[in-house]
Amino acid sequence: IDLNYNWYYIADFKPSYIEAHMDDVGFEVVHLPHTNIELPLNNFSEESYQFESFYKKEFYVEPLLDEHVYMRFEGVMTYAEIYVNGHYIGEHKGGYTPFEFDITPYIHEDAFNMLSVYVDSRERDDIPPFGHVMDFLTYGGIYREVALIYKNVCHIKDLLIKPEDVLTKPKLNMSFDLLNLSQEDKKVTLECHLYNENKQVFSCSRSESLQDTKNINWIEEVGNIQLWSVDAPNLYEVVICVLEDNQVIDKNKVRIGFRQFEFRRDGFYLNNEKHKIVGLNRQQSFPYVGYAMPKSAQYKDADILKHALKVNTVRLSHYPQSNHFLDRCDELGLLVLEEIPGWQHIGNEAWQEVALQNIEEMIKRDWNRPSVFMWGTRINESNDDHDFYKKTSEKARELDDSRAIGGVRCIKNSELLEDVYTYNDFSHTGNNAGLEAPNKVFKEKKPYLITEYNGHMYPTKKYDDEAHRVSHAHRHMRVLDALYGDDHITGAIGWCMFDYNTHKDFGSGDKICYHGVMDMFRIPKMAAYAYASQQRKEPILHVGSSMNIGEHKSGFLTEINVFTNCDWVNFYRNDAFIKRFYPNRHRYGHLPSPPICIDDFIGECLEKDGLFSSTDGKLVKKLLMKANKSRGNLRIMDKLKLGYILLKYKMTTLDMENLYTKYYGGWGGKAAVYRIDGIINNQMVKSVTKGHIFAPTLKVELDSTVLSEEATYDVTRVVVSLRDEYNNSITYANDAFQVITSGHIKVIGPDILALIGGSMGFWIKTTGTYGDGFIEVVSPRFGRLKKRIQVK
Ligand code: GAL
Repeated sequence: IDLNYNWYYIADFKPSYIEAHMDDVGFEVVHLPHTNIELPLNNFSEESYQFESFYKKEFYVEPLLDEHVYMRFEGVMTYAEIYVNGHYIGEHKGGYTPFEFDITPYIHEDAFNMLSVYVDSRERDDIPPFGHVMDFLTYGGIYREVALIYKNVCHIKDLLIKPEDVLTKPKLNMSFDLLNLSQEDKKVTLECHLYNENKQVFSCSRSESLQDTKNINWIEEVGNIQLWSVDAPNLYEVVICVLEDNQVIDKNKVRIGFRQFEFRRDGFYLNNEKHKIVGLNRQQSFPYVGYAMPKSAQYKDADILKHALKVNTVRLSHYPQSNHFLDRCDELGLLVLEEIPGWQHIGNEAWQEVALQNIEEMIKRDWNRPSVFMWGTRINESNDDHDFYKKTSEKARELDDSRAIGGVRCIKNSELLEDVYTYNDFSHTGNNAGLEAPNKVFKEKKPYLITEYNGHMYPTKKYDDEAHRVSHAHRHMRVLDALYGDDHITGAIGWCMFDYNTHKDFGSGDKICYHGVMDMFRIPKMAAYAYASQQRKEPILHVGSSMNIGEHKSGFLTEINVFTNCDWVNFYRNDAFIKRFYPNRHRYGHLPSPPICIDDFIGECLEKDGLFSSTDGKLVKKLLMKANKSRGNLRIMDKLKLGYILLKYKMTTLDMENLYTKYYGGWGGKAAVYRIDGIINNQMVKSVTKGHIFAPTLKVELDSTVLSEEATYDVTRVVVSLRDEYNNSITYANDAFQVITSGHIKVIGPDILALIGGSMGFWIKTTGTYGDGFIEVVSPRFGRLKKRIQVK
């Protein structure tokens, strides 16, 4: 039973609140996921969400029939104390993992009961990741869902299903605790059913008699199955029922996938096929509401990784993330590296106990997921700590021996107690090799995975100048190139998917780390296309320039980068074909799809316009560039060459100057329009046109127009962007607009916004009611744009 609507919340705590009536204190009604405070986008104090708060929720309990009732929390940041009907039930330390309590002794059956939750969202030294600095914010509140669960006195706990021998004789290796809380001897039947797309494909059963808890290990061969892979993520459902006297008394559903992961020294193998791990790190934060976002926003992030960025892997940096996000990774075939909360600092014994508990809670929550290929059992980038890491790695292996373990480090030759040497390689500075050679990082001959690169090495804003943004994209490509060029690197996961709010010690001073290949609203920066273009399934053609001289040094429009997977591009100026340009394999010898560099086209333009012969066109181009650089003071040899051209074509120096302003500056004459056609297998697959802005338009795009109230409220992202006549996003635009909502929706965060670097996102949420909702984006310059949303 989902318990997400209509909680009573107050941003403060007094012990008297535990007994207080809902109407006595200044409670406000909220729905989960809930953030303890809404924050500005940037420029705020990270102390503003670090406070104690209190929640109350009334819930009904049915008459119990041989049942126990549990209260389950998916995530409360950071410390929680749970009370039912005024009785203290228990506490939980750590904001990233779920916990549940048996509340049976404290409830009234067939009646309403009161749940109270004390929440401490301060950075407590006794709870990971706290104790020192950290480059992200943790926010506060009951920010994930809560549920009431009825279970028979005889039920299954900690169900682990390991698909085994999937390539030869597929099996289910099932292990679990069969609990008997009744104190009577029981005879039960266990049934296991395997479904694929709702069709039963296998079933089996066995009998058990038990007095108390029994540990069951059950292995069954299942016959033919379809494998789970990144390209075909086939999912199966396993249903395990406990039956007593032919009645189902307990039912457990688990989604699994049959697949085999293997790290070898020469690569990562999925179902015996080698895959380069190419991915990005994800924080679970969103603007304004921090961590508190429901299912659809979590799904969307996974969709963006798979379909927009087109990577095959995500690292959950630096903590276990939403169930919904992981569900979507399972469905999409997105590989997941999941790790325990932490950032560089290892605390005292009590702190380490919580870290060990985090390992258990993380693994037990996610051990059946096909997408999770590795557990991270070290604190991100911490020093070696033999005793502690021996415990964490042993604990992980004891719980789940079916996956590799790693642990993210940044220190060379640090101790390896895990299976894979997972390392953050920040060696790339722009002009050197993209990655260090593995043998420079560690001596042992073990599989090697890069878990971070770039990030703080080159922070980049969506609205930085073109050269900066281009350079950012190249840095990501240089690392990917190095990855593809070395068989001893199994993969690389970049820092990071999107920009995020952070502590004062990091970021750009405004409490944002601009390390993403997308901004905080998941709007792509140029570097996003460095990733998207590395696959061959769907054509990508992103021209990394607005083709304006003011964005280029000395006004030379020379190096235009096209991020694409096309075989080549055809380049046109004012509809005249100028030249074909090919991927830059010279600079990028290993990348599947190197970018295409359009340079040196002015000579061809001069030639196309019939002003000069082909060789003279190129010479004139060179002379013009030199003259510009030297402010007219050409060296003697160049002066002679210039004289030759002037004489041959009967021109004056003024004519020559006019050529400069026309071709380089585009001054005076008709504005140049450039067209770039992307060609694959001799066919034009995509085309981009760049030209002067005459009459831009404001575009409003919704991720989804149908929202649904299910377990809780729903959200959709809205992106507002300014477009030129060729539908290119304009970078330098900061227009303000207002968002007016009516009907069954509300805007999250401020409703007066401005484009940041040409675009801006916001989310709207449903309100717990059904019907139509309307969004109006009102711009002083572009008028009113209206969109309809249905809430079902
Ligand atoms: C790493 C760290 C990340 C992030 C990144 C920035 O050292 O693990 O959390 O701070 O640097 O590049």
